[in-house]
Amino acid sequence: MSYNLRNRSLLDLKDFSPRDIRFLLNLAAELKRAKCAGIEHPRLKGKNIALIFEKASTRTRCAFEVAVHDQGGHVTYIDSEGSQLGHKESLKDTARVLGRMYDGIEYRGFHQSVVEDLARFSCVPVWNGLTDEAHPTQVLADLLTMEEFGERPLRELSFCYLGDARFNMGCSLLIGGTQMGMDVRIAAPTNLQPPVELVAQMRELARTTGARITIETDPRIAVAGADFLDTDVWVSMGEPEAVWKERIDQLLPYQVTTALMQATGKPHTRFMHCLPAFHNLETEIGRQVYERFGLAEIEVTDEVFESEASIVFTQAENRMHTIKAVLVATLA
Ligand code: CP
Repeated sequence: MSYNLRNRSLLDLKDFSPRDIRFLLNLAAELKRAKCAGIEHPRLKGKNIALIFEKASTRTRCAFEVAVHDQGGHVTYIDSEGSQLGHKESLKDTARVLGRMYDGIEYRGFHQSVVEDLARFSCVPVWNGLTDEAHPTQVLADLLTMEEFGERPLRELSFCYLGDARFNMGCSLLIGGTQMGMDVRIAAPTNLQPPVELVAQMRELARTTGARITIETDPRIAVAGADFLDTDVWVSMGEPEAVWKERIDQLLPYQVTTALMQATGKPHTRFMHCLPAFHNLETEIGRQVYERFGLAEIEVTDEVFESEASIVFTQAENRMHTIKAVLVATLA
């Protein structure tokens, strides 16, 4: 397919048109097929990519590293401990240095303004690997996964995101689902819903894409008829531990349980989660929450997480195929 996204940064899904997103999803599916068939053609030979992580990561880091390696390029991993970033050198100066050496930069950190400045001062494509406001590469993977399992065009599919919808996952899913003309539901208490300006903007966009947007406080109403239930942790990286009690009190009705899966009324509703997930006591934080609040499973029960309906590991794998598509489209 011939289409030109060369030299574009992916800072927020809003930067891309529905047509751009469609192109990236098709390219990701094509790259996934090529890798599975062992006929991948390396299109990033000679490309050097910097990966800046100011927050921890498993999936995003590994997805970028494997994607670049598969395509014949090279990466340098940079964190705030082992570099001058933030301590002795401003982001603006670091951006100008990296822009002289690298063909593109991935950034994971806190504020959206940081990734925007990085793109402005480095003058090379910058890809957002998660900020407080946006997680665009995750939502590309979610859309590809829904397309694979939904067996219908995205515009004929519905998903419901449950939990704290104010930040990166809730907002980026709202944007991505609207761009693809989907039936988008957000189930969250009033004070944890996406910003009203973003909802208004997406309702306006929905007039052209055909998306249906529902923002609902009652989880059982929100999930009725949904093909996918998607959730995330209730306390994000960088938030204080003190918010756990308040968050549990508010979000327990939105926990994805077998009963909530059945409340969709559909036999084939799938469960999605960007991961990592707190579904048992096998994590340090999971055990701490259990000791403090007696809750052994948090945003999803172990029964749902481990069920046939759960597609979380394909979703995780698709991080790599979709990130590869973004890199190939913007650099190759
Ligand atoms: N979903 C996600 O971004 O995973 P990591 O935090 O492991 O990168």
